Amino acid sequence: MADDLLTARGIEVTYGAGGLFGSRGHKVLHGVDISIRRGETIGIVGESGSGKTTLGRALLRLVEVSAGELRFDGQDITRLPEGEMRPLRRRMQMIFQDPMASLNPRHSVRRILVEPVLLHRLAANPHDAEARVLKILDRFKLPKEVLDRNPHELSGGQRQRVGIARAALLEPDFVLADEIVSGLDVSTQAQVLNLLRDLSRDMGLAMAFISHDLSVIRAVCDRVYVLQFGKMVEEGPCEQVFSSPQSDYTRTLLDAIPLPEIDPGWLDRKSAIEDAASV
Ligand SMILES: Nc1ncnc2c1ncn2[C@@H]1O[C@H](COP(=O)(O)OP(=O)(O)O)[C@@H](O)[C@H]1O
Ligand SMILES: [Mg+2]
Repeated sequence: MADDLLTARGIEVTYGAGGLFGSRGHKVLHGVDISIRRGETIGIVGESGSGKTTLGRALLRLVEVSAGELRFDGQDITRLPEGEMRPLRRRMQMIFQDPMASLNPRHSVRRILVEPVLLHRLAANPHDAEARVLKILDRFKLPKEVLDRNPHELSGGQRQRVGIARAALLEPDFVLADEIVSGLDVSTQAQVLNLLRDLSRDMGLAMAFISHDLSVIRAVCDRVYVLQFGKMVEEGPCEQVFSSPQSDYTRTLLDAIPLPEIDPGWLDRKSAIEDAASV
């Protein structure tokens, strides 16, 4: 489809193949198809170990696929050499579960945010780069004092927002968010998810949310993919999959969580409560 930004067809990933003893390795993705349209938010759900992170990393060409095809913005990137991937790297960003691990602890937030902007030539000079950074801090409700702090001096929610700001500053077309709210308390989760939802609307950003938490997926995603043992067992619009799941596996996943938790309005109501509380 013309609107497809990122597609995978029949991709397989095998860990630990080859090596000294010619190991056949451990195949964790068995011919997965996925397509993400411009501006669309999709969810990938499945139990721990089902291959969600591997799939996400394969989509970004961070692990090699042993079979299948990957396309980004019409271009076949399946075996694109790293040098030719580089210009695309800015356009496909990843947000991490643990910003402590992805933000350099020895660098100030200023350096963490300004450097990539300069590196990717999105600003002509450090002064312009900092101006862009200040704009995004404001938008993310981060006080400008955070610029002089190091990541460990921030709260968990602030750190997560700095991680998202760093990705957003590069004006990507696609963002992969792998279990990004798992470690946060419920109200911080809602703040972070709202921020991403607004961002994707304003920037026309396509996003893939990986989560074992179906309530998170339901709150933010247009469509959902269900992964079991490295195979896609179901795909469809969120509302449809949640209200009438076709596969037994999806039904089992849904049965495992209490009903109020998958109420699709939880995010809006929770933020309404928070807004009321924060004034
Ligand atoms: N770097 C790796 N090397 C070898 N095996 C891995 C590696 N990463 C993940 N695996 C294995 O691949 C399977 C899928 O893992 P993963 O993609 O992390 O699943 P999920 O994100 O759904 O929990 C698991 O059996 C895991 O042990
Ligand atoms: Mg994972």
